[in-house]
Amino acid sequence: MKVLVTGGAGYIGSHTCKLLANLGHTVITYDNLSTGHRQLVKWGDFIYGDIRDEARLRYAVHKYQPDGLIHFASFISVGESCSDPGSYYENNILGSLRIMQVLRDEGVRPLVVSGSAAVYGLPDMVPVAETAALNPINPYGRTKLVMEWMLEDFAQAHKLPWLALRYFNAAGADPSAETGEWHEPETHLIPNVLTAILKGQKLKVFGTDYPTQDGTCIRDYIHVNDLAWAHVLGLSYLLENKPSMSINLGTGSGVSVKEIIRAVEELTDKKVPFLVMPRRPGDPASLVADPTKAHKILNWTPEFLNIKDIIATALNWLSLHQENLLHI
Ligand SMILES: NC(=O)c1ccc[n+]([C@@H]2O[C@H](COP(=O)([O-])OP(=O)(O)OC[C@H]3O[C@@H](n4cnc5c(N)ncnc54)[C@H](O)[C@@H]3O)[C@@H](O)[C@H]2O)c1
Repeated sequence: MKVLVTGGAGYIGSHTCKLLANLGHTVITYDNLSTGHRQLVKWGDFIYGDIRDEARLRYAVHKYQPDGLIHFASFISVGESCSDPGSYYENNILGSLRIMQVLRDEGVRPLVVSGSAAVYGLPDMVPVAETAALNPINPYGRTKLVMEWMLEDFAQAHKLPWLALRYFNAAGADPSAETGEWHEPETHLIPNVLTAILKGQKLKVFGTDYPTQDGTCIRDYIHVNDLAWAHVLGLSYLLENKPSMSINLGTGSGVSVKEIIRAVEELTDKKVPFLVMPRRPGDPASLVADPTKAHKILNWTPEFLNIKDIIATALNWLSLHQENLLHI
């Protein structure tokens, strides 16, 4: 396959590019480097471009004639989406719309997009299946839901084949540390727990009074290479003219904040210094995927099922790239 990857200079995108290239596919990264890193584009060609720039996108699709697209490019921080909703609506919705319009005009081809568990908001039932109510509670989640609606409409009107993969919590890094998680600022728990140890800073734990076993929030951590694999399967699935749909990606089991802290302490033999903070508004107590549909439709099963194994890959990446990631 020849695959155009928007956001290929980012965390999940770069892992997917590596996997595609290792499987012998041709990969082209399209990215404006707003949050991504040129150093992570190591597999295939790079086009510097913004997804909102229709002419540039059209040029890329026209030049490479990809068999399919994987669309990761978006802003990803829930907190920032609340303080600056305009840039989220513009980047995530307008950018996704431009991609669909260019595909409509240049010849429709399969499009796999990064969805998010944020479309479920505060779910009534855990584990969460795709049939759960779609009720995002922040602008970030709403941009992901609107993107799915646009896909449904473009499929109806223009036969655009699509899959929206709704990830729960992406985690870990490529075990060889050729790429990894590099967000600035980092808002995700595992790198922040590791940073607390490596930099001796206090980790903030938001809420220890949730109705969970140890009082802290439970999430479903899915290794980034397992996510990457689902995209490859997803694109192959669409190339077989199979139906478009939304699919959850998670392991199906939840891990609490305190369990993450304990796992890091065991791996590093060091105590994680932390501060208990009040709950953050909009954080569900527990968010765990029901991944049955991904198994059934894509024949996808995650390889990384042990949280310690996932954290070990993140620790390896962070330890080897401290000067870039931690500025030490
Ligand atoms: N990381 C997670 O846990 C998680 C969970 C659910 C969903 N997602 C989704 O997965 C996708 C990838 O997330 P990530 O963690 O790899 O984020 P990331 O910030 O590391 O990567 C996003 C990439 O998109 C690029 N980009 C952003 N806006 C662009 C634009 N207008 N034009 C061109 N390129 C642009 C950035 O430069 C960056 O390289 C996002 O769509 C995100 O919403 C991530």
